[in-house]
Amino acid sequence: MYSIITGTGSYLPEKILTNRDLEAMVDTSDEWIRTRTGISQRHVAAEGQMASDLALNASLKAIEAAKIENNEIDLIILATTTPDMIFPSTACILQEKLGIKDCPAFDVQAVCSGFVYALATADMFIRAGKCRNALIVGTEIYSNIVDWNDRTTCVLFGDGAGAVVLSQNDQPGILSSHLHANGDYSKVLSAPGNISRGEIQGNPYVSMEGNTVFKFAVTVLEEVAREAITENNLKISDIDWLIPHQANIRIIKSTAKKLGIPMDKVVATVDKHGNTSAASIPLALDIAVRDGRIQPNQLVLLEGVGGGFTWGAILLRWGNS
Ligand code: ACO
Repeated sequence: MYSIITGTGSYLPEKILTNRDLEAMVDTSDEWIRTRTGISQRHVAAEGQMASDLALNASLKAIEAAKIENNEIDLIILATTTPDMIFPSTACILQEKLGIKDCPAFDVQAVCSGFVYALATADMFIRAGKCRNALIVGTEIYSNIVDWNDRTTCVLFGDGAGAVVLSQNDQPGILSSHLHANGDYSKVLSAPGNISRGEIQGNPYVSMEGNTVFKFAVTVLEEVAREAITENNLKISDIDWLIPHQANIRIIKSTAKKLGIPMDKVVATVDKHGNTSAASIPLALDIAVRDGRIQPNQLVLLEGVGGGFTWGAILLRWGNS
């Protein structure tokens, strides 16, 4: 028994914040942001819009693309760093919004690797025969957890959601998944605050050592890509599409260069979306599916890296149903 992606969907909030807009907010410039990160704009959620609202929009499109009804979903795994509330999980809130009455639903917290972790988990449920149609969502409202006075972080992130339906099939689909974490790096990239006795304790905003994150990301994104390719007895040149986490175009280009993958085989959306953390990979995937770049039988490598540190890759054959 295997799993295969049968539908994708994504959603970006209406409001766009350009680099020029940020120039009026902090001491930065369009030129600095574009040359250091490749980002020219990002989307920002409306006041009151929650991660589950973004997730709902993306999920409905993915379910429609999969040509199934909401109630045929029998597992929901939602990756987010910015849940609607402490509990219940955003997955359960999404379940209610979708009108699905009974199926397991839970959140995964692996920051920017969250979607890869969630998709790998759903694949294992399907291979174990525990579900037929899983909904996997990455959804984020980083505008709620960045300090809009801190130019070193606020220019990097954006809001959005992406979703896929993963269904049982007798052909793969997902060929292999590779997950890693190293908690020794937990302080390098974090939003360390929490809520205790009704008060925010510590810094609730994203804080990071940018250079350390950069070097670590490039190293592990190369390693985990090679791990996936080796396990499947493939060559780098067999990969049709690389869809990496969209943190920074320099990280994406360095990874592609180290792997020897030309940039015309890499899906990059960071210029328009910024870093949408757990949403970035399914957002990029949906865009490349809908604009016709990804074609049946092509090999697609998804890879993420984020706070924890966590990192991972999923190698899949597209549309082999
Ligand atoms: N505008 C203008 N100047 C800035 C800004 C800004 N927005 N931010 C920082 N600077 C200044 C710094 O203060 C510094 O000034 P100084 O030399 O006077 O001290 C100068 O620019 C250079 O700063 P660096 O940090 O050395 O710049 P660098 O080229 O390393 O780029 C960046 C910084 C973009 C954060 C880079 O390190 C990076 O992308 N790291 C990865 C971080 C990341 O992607 N995090 C996202 C979450 S993790 C993930 O998704 C994998």
